[in-house]
This record gives sequence, C-alpha cells and structure tokens, in this order.
Amino acid sequence: MHPLLEAIAQRSSLNHFDAEARLDDADIRELIGWASRAPSAFNLQNWRFIAVRSESGKQRLRQLAWDQPKVSEAAVTFILCGVLPDTAQLPARLQSSVNAGFMPAAMPHTWQQAAEQLYSDSPLARRDEAVRSATLAAATLMQAGQALGLGACPMTGFDTEAVASSFGLGADEIPVMLVAMGRARAGNWPQKPRRPLEQILELA
Ligand SMILES: Cc1cc2nc3c(=O)[nH]c(=O)nc-3n(C[C@H](O)[C@H](O)[C@H](O)COP(=O)(O)O)c2cc1C
Repeated sequence: MHPLLEAIAQRSSLNHFDAEARLDDADIRELIGWASRAPSAFNLQNWRFIAVRSESGKQRLRQLAWDQPKVSEAAVTFILCGVLPDTAQLPARLQSSVNAGFMPAAMPHTWQQAAEQLYSDSPLARRDEAVRSATLAAATLMQAGQALGLGACPMTGFDTEAVASSFGLGADEIPVMLVAMGRARAGNWPQKPRRPLEQILELA
C-alpha cells in the first residue's frame, strides 16, 4: 500500500499521550511548515497556529477545553486559528508566485477582484473560508505528524470565546480547532469503523 494510504488507514484520534515526550521548537516549526502546505482559497493562507507547549500554557488551555487530560499530556496542543479573509493582502501573498515565473503578473489583481466579490457582502462566506482553511491545515498537520511518528487528536470541545481571549486572538481570528500532538502511549483505541459507502457516496 502507498505510505500515504497506509497512514490514512492507521490514523486514529489519540486519547492517551506519553506525558514525558517533548517536541522542541525545531520539531514544531517543521510540523507547521508542513501544515502550511495545505491548500486555501486564492492561496490566502488565512491561518495562524499557536503552539501551546509550556506546562502553564497547556494547563490554562486544558481548563478551557473541558479539562481534557490530553490537552496537557500531549507534547504540544495547537490552537488552529482561521483568519477572516482580507482581500487587500492578496496581491502581496501572490507576488511570490509571480516572482517564481508561473503566475502571470496581472493575475493577483484579477484574483483579488474575484475574492472581493465572494467575501465583501457576506460575513458568512468570510467565516466559512476561515473555518475551511484552518480545517484543511489541521488535516495536513495531523498527516505530517503521523509521517514523523507522532499521533494526534483534533478537538472542538473547548470554550471558543475563552480561548480567543486567553490566548490573545485578534478580532478577525477564529479558534477553529485544537490539535493535541505527541507520542502515543498504550491504551489508545484503533481507528473507529466508518459508515458504508452506500450511505455516504452518490455517484451522480
Ligand atoms: C471537529 C472534530 C472535533 C473533535 N473534538 C474532539 C474532542 O473535543 N475531544 C475528543 O476526545 N475527540 C474529539 N474529536 C475526535 C473524534 O471523536 C474522532 O475523530 C472520531 O471519534 C473518530 O475517531 P477516529 O478518528 O479515531 O477514527 C474530534 C474530531 C473532530 C474532527
């Protein structure tokens, strides 16, 4: 089986982490480097990652996350923030694609106009985009972690307003998901069985 498919097949949401295992800043930078390879609309990259790895930070986050032990037992718990799209930043974000020689010079402006049409009158569309981008980054982060021998658990069991305030999120940032990550310890369940394709797939 292809290693990527093997990883998808083997992944499970961990409940038990080795509380002694640590990740250093270089490990965390590597993980977020991979997470940032996730796609985002217009390549907005409208996300921010807070790596909570100090003991005090993890305890503070745990209290805001239903006191789930894995928040502090994992080596790091990431707060994945989705950022409401700011179309004014788009030309600068796309300039490196122009500089690399594959994107026509006029395209950033065209994309900016399209993005303005999509988001300007719709707070819901802006919020959806922030949630989508952070969610795709979360999935990519978990896959990268697995490839590096780590396990993870995505979490939405937390008080969003309290996390936003306690960790200083901006008014345009949504704490979309927590991802606890570290070394697995014994006692975790395997991946749970999934619904049959007949119930979830429509071949149109
Ligand atoms: C959006 C989202 C929120 C979740 N929130 C929590 C959570 O707060 N606490 C927890 O223990 N697991 C949480 N999970 C993990 C799910 O319970 C888990 O993915 C699901 O039971 C399937 O298990 P598996 O991934 O091991 O097959 C969450 C998963 C997702 C995708």
